Amino acid sequence: MKKATIFIDKHFILGDIDKRIYGSFIEHLGRAVYEGIYQPDSPLSDEQGFRKDVLGLIKTLNVPTVRYPGGSFVSGYNWEDGIGPKNERPEKVDLAWGVIESNQFGLNEFIDWCKKAETEPMMAINLGTRGIDEAKNIVEYANLTCNSFYANLRKKHGYEKAHDIKLWCLGNEMDGPWQIGHKTASEYGRLASEAGRVMKMVDPSIELVACGSSGLDMETFGEWEDTVLSEAYDQADYISLHQYYGNRDNNTADFLANTVAMDKFISSVIAICDAVKAKKRKQKQINLSFDEWNVWYHSNDADTKVERWSKVPHQLEDIYNFEDALLVAGMLITMLRHSDRVKIACMAQLVNVIAPIMTSAFGAWKQTIYFPYEMISNYGRGKVLNTVVKTPVYESKHGDAPYLDAIFIFNEEKDELVLFAVNKDLEEVIEIDCDLRQFEGYQVSNHQILRHDDVKAVNTFDNPANVAPVKGSAAISEGRLSVKLADKSFHMIVISR
Ligand code: AHR
Repeated sequence: MKKATIFIDKHFILGDIDKRIYGSFIEHLGRAVYEGIYQPDSPLSDEQGFRKDVLGLIKTLNVPTVRYPGGSFVSGYNWEDGIGPKNERPEKVDLAWGVIESNQFGLNEFIDWCKKAETEPMMAINLGTRGIDEAKNIVEYANLTCNSFYANLRKKHGYEKAHDIKLWCLGNEMDGPWQIGHKTASEYGRLASEAGRVMKMVDPSIELVACGSSGLDMETFGEWEDTVLSEAYDQADYISLHQYYGNRDNNTADFLANTVAMDKFISSVIAICDAVKAKKRKQKQINLSFDEWNVWYHSNDADTKVERWSKVPHQLEDIYNFEDALLVAGMLITMLRHSDRVKIACMAQLVNVIAPIMTSAFGAWKQTIYFPYEMISNYGRGKVLNTVVKTPVYESKHGDAPYLDAIFIFNEEKDELVLFAVNKDLEEVIEIDCDLRQFEGYQVSNHQILRHDDVKAVNTFDNPANVAPVKGSAAISEGRLSVKLADKSFHMIVISR
């Protein structure tokens, strides 16, 4: 058995958690929109065609913001195709995913859906094939109430009140050679700065996310952030990070050690933001929007067989296993550890497409990764305590990786301390010890464990709880929390007065 010690002090606060760190993402891709959140011909849908079972699961996840409409899709998208009478909307080729887009769901449907899903929109604009004018028009359509062409058009479409969309992405993955309208860092930086300036002229209350790198392994990483921020520092409020991991070599220990790489990615981007801030002698700080993150690789082969120009095909339908859920828990813990700078994050994506929620014609079900997301989103609210973890480490392809990932949250509103912890050791128990004498009178009120003997175990429509949390029995004795964390397991321990 291994041993680890966790040290916290209630006065040592790392940062406030911005609830938007538990955001997600819906792209016009595969069955995310159609058959995912919107299926007018299904008995499971409401009068607007929104799947009620899916809305229920999303509300349980407690998702504060949803990024839309892409993704790579947005870089070839005309938002005007998705507004107005549905029978007049054009069917178009979607070059990003090689399919036909019907445009039956668009901006207004998304806003209506957000209200029902109890979430806020995070809207991306097309800076691939379009530019400043389109950026101006969409903000005018969405947010203005004055007597102007686009504001009046929205009213004509039945939306008298402005949508008041507060958070906007200046394009998507513009550093990626696969992206429609891919640009060099200086080309993109100039465009983002001018489009962003005009968008804020239309509505000064909005916040903007500039595109950062599509992964730590991008050749242009670092240089890209530096150049883009040097151009668009005054307009951007956030810089984005995107990262997906896969276990292609079937090495679970290395796969789980991706949290080390993610940590490095975040720290490096923070360093670049602050270097540009220093060079420009600015007061303003740029924060991070990790607006695409997840595991993505299971569906890669199947996706090579998708029929070109088909409608609503099964695309990117990864079926997640237990080790994926462990990594997802570790990724969320890693972002919480940087909650002073990571203010927005979006699990990519939300339904059917690399998603925690899957649908069939008969209902919706939870993938393995649903559970760590649900637990951390619901209980990881408040302040992150500076959590010092003394843990054994193992060698991995990313360098030394801790066997134990852990973070303590203090929720002042509920007077609750919450520990999230992953034991990445595939064979051995880790006994953790934490001195909690500062929290006199607090006891464990809820201990949930996510564990399975088989790291490859999955959930299915017929067996949706094969991998699901069970109750644990952690307790505090004489002011110390001492718990044995089983090999390969994720824990949530809620401690309240
Ligand atoms: O989420 C799937 C795709 O991954 C997105 O469209 C793109 O932004 C990224 O490459």
